Amino acid sequence: MTKSCKDYIKMNVITLCLLAVAMARSTNGGLPPPERPYKILMLLPAASKSHKNVFMAFSEALADRGHKVVILSGLPQSSKHPNVLEINHEMPYMGDASKSVFEKGKSVGGGLGTFAITLPAMAREMYKVPSVKQLYEKRREFDIIIVNHMFNEIAYPFVHKLPFITVATPGMDARQSAILGNVLNPSYAPNLLGSYPHPLSVWQRIKNTFMHIFIPFFWRNWAVVPLIQKEISAQFPDLPPLLDLERNQSLTLINSHFSITTPVPLLPSQVEVGAMHCRPVKPLPQDLESWLIGAGSEGVIYFSLGSVTRGESMPPEYIKTFLEAFRRLPQRVLWKYEGELKDAPDNVRISSWLPQQDILGHNNVKVFISHGGLLSLQESIYHAVPLLVLPIFGDQPRNGMFVKDSGLGHMLVWEELSADRIVNALTDIISNPKYKRNVAKMSASLRDQLTTPQERAVFWTEYVIRHRGSPQLRCPAAQLSWVEFLMLDVVGLLLLLLLLLLLLIHRLLKAVSTALFNSNAKKKKD
Ligand SMILES: *[C@@H]1O[C@H](CO)[C@@H](O)[C@H](O)[C@H]1NC(C)=O
Repeated sequence: MTKSCKDYIKMNVITLCLLAVAMARSTNGGLPPPERPYKILMLLPAASKSHKNVFMAFSEALADRGHKVVILSGLPQSSKHPNVLEINHEMPYMGDASKSVFEKGKSVGGGLGTFAITLPAMAREMYKVPSVKQLYEKRREFDIIIVNHMFNEIAYPFVHKLPFITVATPGMDARQSAILGNVLNPSYAPNLLGSYPHPLSVWQRIKNTFMHIFIPFFWRNWAVVPLIQKEISAQFPDLPPLLDLERNQSLTLINSHFSITTPVPLLPSQVEVGAMHCRPVKPLPQDLESWLIGAGSEGVIYFSLGSVTRGESMPPEYIKTFLEAFRRLPQRVLWKYEGELKDAPDNVRISSWLPQQDILGHNNVKVFISHGGLLSLQESIYHAVPLLVLPIFGDQPRNGMFVKDSGLGHMLVWEELSADRIVNALTDIISNPKYKRNVAKMSASLRDQLTTPQERAVFWTEYVIRHRGSPQLRCPAAQLSWVEFLMLDVVGLLLLLLLLLLLLIHRLLKAVSTALFNSNAKKKKD
């Protein structure tokens, strides 16, 4: 073979390889190319790491399409994509919140109360941060703005008179659904902090109805938004109220999927993109791989309380209980733990960072001990690993109840934690095949979709841009007052009419009876 011929073949092989890599990388294979690269602004100034993880998967799917994405958050850069630019406002508030997560769980409203302090403070300072101010001034250059719905009312000055969409990072949130005009029925739809096995008993429906009303009232009218509004109004006196701006969203992408939650009716403007961040496994570092294999047929227990809860913030008595339990188990335990662990038995390996999805996707991992954060739950279901959930705060108790009710594993509460309980729960999950069977079934349903969640997120974002805010998606119910929506005026008028009718009939009967009586009396007289 001549040299040039060899080079030619080599070149073609390289091109083919690059093409294959590009195709494997692209999560949006089914979509036609966009009309032009768009400029997209993502606002999640008050987001935890896990909320940001949803946005990272989303931003990279958009960036793979050639769009330029700018992300404003309070967290360090985590994307290496050349089309993703991250801006960190560096205000400390969200970071501080993680210190007391074990305390948070015990406070009213699952810890929502702390936001009444941090969010107004952020609203006061954020627009003074030079990088944020600059971004705010350039906001009209973007084709679309994407806001993390939960906790981020402080970002709404950006979206005034501009098309925007929201991402419901905690999954279906009845309060957020109502903003778009889809008021969910508390007779069966879970609230943000609790879910019940179906069908709900009368008592559960009373509690659920109370929560459906209380959570929005607490957030929007009482403890949080009014305080943010005061700070924002002081800086932007001509801006419409934040809650009016919020109602002008074109679309919401919901981080849920019907196979892993209670199915509910959705509007065209509510698109499910749950488990968008889940992906097939990548190879593990060699030593970790051999350690997992080395556990033999007993297998491995993976233990992580997520990105917000750091191992060292766990009260020492809990650590002792876990170590005592692990000492009694034949499995190996891989624990995401920051700091030093004294007296750890030989079957326990700790590490401050672990590639969670690649571990969950490993054949020898039998169970995941989790705090029940939504992303961890989604990853566990996607990779078909049964769970032992120990919820700490927020929506975690709800997710724990879901795991228990769906037969995906067990839930334990921290206050009643003991080595016996841990050992019993883990042994049951590992030895009884029903948990693995249930989670594998759910996983198969979650993966069985016409389009990928990334594809849908990208398609609908581009759709809203192409259709300039897509007014055709909006449900008129979003513009109605409660009186109009519940038809209280109509019911009231009908009742009034009925009352008048009854009055009329009463009068008529009285007149007739008087006439009859009179004529009878007359006859008698005669
Ligand atoms: C509401 O949204 C539309 C389309 O997205 C936009 O054109 C309009 O200016 C927005 N209104 C306000 C008050 O922000």
